[in-house]
Amino acid sequence: MPKVKPEDLRSRQWFMNPENPEMTALYLERYLNYGLTREELQSGKPVIAIAQTGSDLSPCNRHHLELTKRVRDGIIAAGGTPLEVPVHPIQETGKRPTAMLDRNLAYLSLVETLFGYPIDGVVLNIGCDKTTPALLMAAATVNVPAIALSVGPMLNGWYQGERAGSGTVIWKAREKLAAGEIDDTEFMEIAAASAPSVGYCNTMGTATTMNSLAEALGMQLPGAAAIPAPYRERGQISYETGRRIVDMVWEDLRPSDIMTRAAFENAIVINSAIGGSTNAPIHLNGIARHLGVPLDNDDWQAVGHQVPLLVNLQPAGEYLGEDYHRAGGVPAVIGELLAAGLLPHPDAITANGQSMDDNCRAVRSGNADVIRPLAQALKPEAGFINLKGNLFDSAILKTSVISPEFRARYLSNPDDVNAFEGRAVVFDGPEDFHHRIDDPAEEIDENCVLFMRGAGPKGYPGGAEVVNMRPPAYLLKRGIDALPCVGDGRQSGTSGSPSILNASPEAADGGGLALLRTGDRVRFDLTRGTADMLVDEAELAARRTDLQARGGYPVPESQSPWQQYFRELVQPFDKGMVLRDAPDYRDISRK
Ligand code: FES
Ligand code: MG
Repeated sequence: MPKVKPEDLRSRQWFMNPENPEMTALYLERYLNYGLTREELQSGKPVIAIAQTGSDLSPCNRHHLELTKRVRDGIIAAGGTPLEVPVHPIQETGKRPTAMLDRNLAYLSLVETLFGYPIDGVVLNIGCDKTTPALLMAAATVNVPAIALSVGPMLNGWYQGERAGSGTVIWKAREKLAAGEIDDTEFMEIAAASAPSVGYCNTMGTATTMNSLAEALGMQLPGAAAIPAPYRERGQISYETGRRIVDMVWEDLRPSDIMTRAAFENAIVINSAIGGSTNAPIHLNGIARHLGVPLDNDDWQAVGHQVPLLVNLQPAGEYLGEDYHRAGGVPAVIGELLAAGLLPHPDAITANGQSMDDNCRAVRSGNADVIRPLAQALKPEAGFINLKGNLFDSAILKTSVISPEFRARYLSNPDDVNAFEGRAVVFDGPEDFHHRIDDPAEEIDENCVLFMRGAGPKGYPGGAEVVNMRPPAYLLKRGIDALPCVGDGRQSGTSGSPSILNASPEAADGGGLALLRTGDRVRFDLTRGTADMLVDEAELAARRTDLQARGGYPVPESQSPWQQYFRELVQPFDKGMVLRDAPDYRDISRK
């Protein structure tokens, strides 16, 4: 029995309001002018928006323009009326100064669209990094029935007989370039080889992570995250997604019913098992805030840190998106976690109306090297730890990417095996880094810790993916390919650096990082979860007074109106980088 009757549909307030025939006529007439019929708009069919993130400016999501044809077919087959609506474009690698700045802008505009127009349900066309959280955040605020649809990853990239993964090959190639092993042309060839088809990044970067987590949260059909963009199954799941959203409208199954605290805890566990991106806590904490679900970085450590790494994808492992799909994708990961008793909430409901357990209980890895059963896990503990101290209140470290060489150099002091100390070298933004990193006068050696500040949401603005700093060229030539890096910016999810990231509050927002100086001793204790500059209180107080006298940590001038509004309103990374006051608006489609 459907819960919702045709007369309850939201769109009827526009298209068939018996109390106001004049407004009905006004609302209706213009939607007829391109060929929609009165029958389609007035016979009680749900109006389904397709939130279109594909465009020529957004190559990662561009294939949605094709897939949307199948989504429309599915919506019509199930008795709905599709309306394709544009979303503010977001392209991770093409947007200056950073696509992260636009996540909240796309969120705001989609909230306004879904709220202000006759929409009963929505298909969220997700893919490239920030498109997924932007659309899930908007669905959370508006709370109309919603289902996400990934565009799918690119096919595997290959270079000289080896898998060449998006982003990951670039981080490796830039080290070779700096060491003089390759030239600019070869750099470009390697980069192009990693992008062989339509789709999103084929590594376990932020895109694969967030698309997997949209499924882990229950917001996609089972298996929908990992099917490569060009595969026929991608078109087929698009059709099924279109069909399903119509039923979700009749069932009144809304984002707040699916994305509960239990769903977020499942997603945190799944994020560890897949080796998910360090951008995930920012986005999931943000989505949760728009739903009124409490979630913070302590939860990420408590729920996720001790979960083993099961998925062998670059950058933490070897394989790429096609392999992930062929091994079973997210349902196989969940199936293995269920079999190991590690999924905290098997009963969590998903977009198809079934529970995680119903959907995935019988699914197992189809390739035990790509998606490992628990007994062959790649790392015993793959989640994040949350560090705190006088440098910041919260910053995360992805422990699964700590290499044996890095562990041997920094984390094997017999007295204190999980702690390291070093001399701070502080950079104020990426330009400062590029300017000084290779300067011998900085005296950077393997006992240094590189700091990046001025790279957070307010400082940059939007937060730059620049914390994974390469060592100076002279150290690279000596075989030292990673130094500990810390910062108030982010790191690309395709980077395998064991950096301490997303430090909150940032230097530009009164954080302790603003007081740090090159030459200070710093200490990190991964067991105790501490991160401190070893500078005494009196000295820190003097530095604070001095900084205040200079007007605080300098923030560059905004280059656009949105940059200014964003800086005024944005909350720190650990609070989801949401806009001030926005989380107070909830369930607005029913108001
Ligand atoms: Fe768009 Fe990676 S750059 S998905
Ligand atoms: Mg990125």
